[in-house]
Amino acid sequence: MNASKPIIRTWKLHKSFGSHQVLQEVNLNIPEASICAVIGQSGTGKSVLFKTIIGMIPPDGGQVWFKDTELTALPPDKLMAMRKSFGYAFQNAALFDSMTVEENLAFPLKEVLRLKDREAIRKRVSELLTWIELPDIGAKRPDALSGGMRKRVGVARALILRPEVIFFDEPTTGLDPVLSETINNLAVRVRRELGVTCVMITHDIPGAFRIADTIAFLDQGRIIAEGSPAAVARSEHPLVQAFIRISFVDKGVLSL
Ligand SMILES: Nc1ncnc2c1ncn2[C@@H]1O[C@H](COP(=O)(O)OP(=O)(O)O)[C@@H](O)[C@H]1O
Ligand SMILES: [Mg+2]
Repeated sequence: MNASKPIIRTWKLHKSFGSHQVLQEVNLNIPEASICAVIGQSGTGKSVLFKTIIGMIPPDGGQVWFKDTELTALPPDKLMAMRKSFGYAFQNAALFDSMTVEENLAFPLKEVLRLKDREAIRKRVSELLTWIELPDIGAKRPDALSGGMRKRVGVARALILRPEVIFFDEPTTGLDPVLSETINNLAVRVRRELGVTCVMITHDIPGAFRIADTIAFLDQGRIIAEGSPAAVARSEHPLVQAFIRISFVDKGVLSL
């Protein structure tokens, strides 16, 4: 991993909804081919930060950079083209229940890439289903799958266009600890085997500390701690300390 070279960078990113300042001058650096976990309390601006980075929500101020391109300076058509470099697996995986898993995965290939070659589409879909270790579910509908399987299909769909960065918004929320571990391990494989940068909003603090290269702690639209898990764990900010205590010390994982 080249820690000095961010693949995504935000500079003084600002977003308000009416008088509610949700993002306040957020400076975030995500190193290429890394796993970055974004943590913080509910309602603190994590999802808005993601949506602003990928261009779903226009910021009021500041910049978003993807490698050497300032996304916030692009006209809409160029931004749309650039968004193909990003995959997203959002909380409610948003799979179409009226389509089979195979059709769900084929959808972006047909609609975004305008691929017509059925055999090539089938091959790409089957390759990814094998990669997520669910090779036989192509003909099933998402509502016939377990929660953990749906999440993995959501990850496969986020990967189908071969993005350079994948954004996960709370991929483990609502899953039991064993399934959460499966999804965390999938993120590790996405980074290691595919070289794709993973940016992950998560409430699974032990999981984040285990798999992430960098952690950004967001509070009320500001980053209050950022860096390696060890550096964030050493932060003296009371809220960071409270998160560490509740997630590790009170569970007996660490003694202080
Ligand atoms: N489209 C929107 N319009 C108005 N307010 C919004 C919108 N999206 C998010 N918010 C508000 O911004 C704040 C941060 O939301 P969010 O980023 O979703 O929090 P979280 O950290 O839980 O992901 C919340 O108070 C939310 O109500
Ligand atoms: Mg959220």
